Amino acid sequence: MVTLGIETSCDETAIALYDSNSSQIIAEKVYSQIDLHAAYGGVVPELASRDHCAKIINVLDQCMAEFDLKNIDQIAYTAGPGLIGALLIGENLAHGLSISLNKPVVPINHLEAHLHAPKIDQDIHLDFPFITLLVSGGHSMIIKVNKLGDYELLGDTRDDAVGEAFDKVAKLLNLGYPGGPILEKIAMQGDSSSFSFPQPMAHSNDCDMSFSGLKTAVLYAVEKLSTITDKHQADIAASFQESATEILVKKIDFALSKNSVKDIVLAGGVAANKLLRSKMDSLADNKNINLHYPPLRHCTDNAAMVAYLGSLYSEISSYNLVSSVRPRWPLDELKL
Ligand code: KG4
Ligand code: ZN
Repeated sequence: MVTLGIETSCDETAIALYDSNSSQIIAEKVYSQIDLHAAYGGVVPELASRDHCAKIINVLDQCMAEFDLKNIDQIAYTAGPGLIGALLIGENLAHGLSISLNKPVVPINHLEAHLHAPKIDQDIHLDFPFITLLVSGGHSMIIKVNKLGDYELLGDTRDDAVGEAFDKVAKLLNLGYPGGPILEKIAMQGDSSSFSFPQPMAHSNDCDMSFSGLKTAVLYAVEKLSTITDKHQADIAASFQESATEILVKKIDFALSKNSVKDIVLAGGVAANKLLRSKMDSLADNKNINLHYPPLRHCTDNAAMVAYLGSLYSEISSYNLVSSVRPRWPLDELKL
């Protein structure tokens, strides 16, 4: 069975094809709007919708270069959470294809798609329950996956998402947008012990997180400096990254102390961060737990994860074309 996946929840226009017979992604294309939003230092929702609209057919054509659309079996698309205008572009394409090809659609939760992304490329067995750290520009969550479709939110951020904190700190340091990857690169030249930034809530007896105090501490440190040299930039980036990743690792450590699991999954855009990966590797080694993360291209937003999850949910695909778009769509409200 071949599932066409469509992802337009934020600033990536992406299409992919997953074949469940061969358990492989047959084709995938991602068009990133980064350059469009860079001038504004963040995603501008109206521009995102317009650009999805302008580019999506071209991305579809590129993805289908070697595969006939008529041979797909179903269409999975991200129905939420995300920017409403952006989500509607993906849904409209899905519905249009459904009508013209007479194929069913399956609306997909973007967060759930991230959770299962490590299984797309690797033949891994994840024992239920497993724990996922989902860290992106919009989310910082620790989730217990009891089985497909059954998720328990163990912890969440009380304020900013960790990716948002990376982006905002990068902006304070004039590093451009999106901040995470650039900040990580600059941090490699810096000394992570040169600034002592706080780790808010790192020792609270729960899995909840907070990143806005850390971001404000960076703001104060930047304001104290009359000029920011390259060395300051690198040292602040390294010290911030150290605190942010420590918070995440301590929270996962706490989650593991309360839940007996054999596997942890690291997902979402921030899962691309090498320092986070190496700290999580050490933690998993110490606890004798298996750590899984997707390859970089499937950590950030992509349609392969949407097509793959759609294939797991083929039994609920339908010809019902009432809008399913939900800008807010918590994982514990998955009933479609
Ligand atoms: O999952 P994603 O592509 O989109 C959302 O659903 O938000 O995640 C994007 C976020 C951005 O905040 C970006 O700065 C962050 O992930 N990010 C990183 C790295 N690569 C992307 N943060 C830290 N280190 C990285 N290497
Ligand atoms: Zn995402």
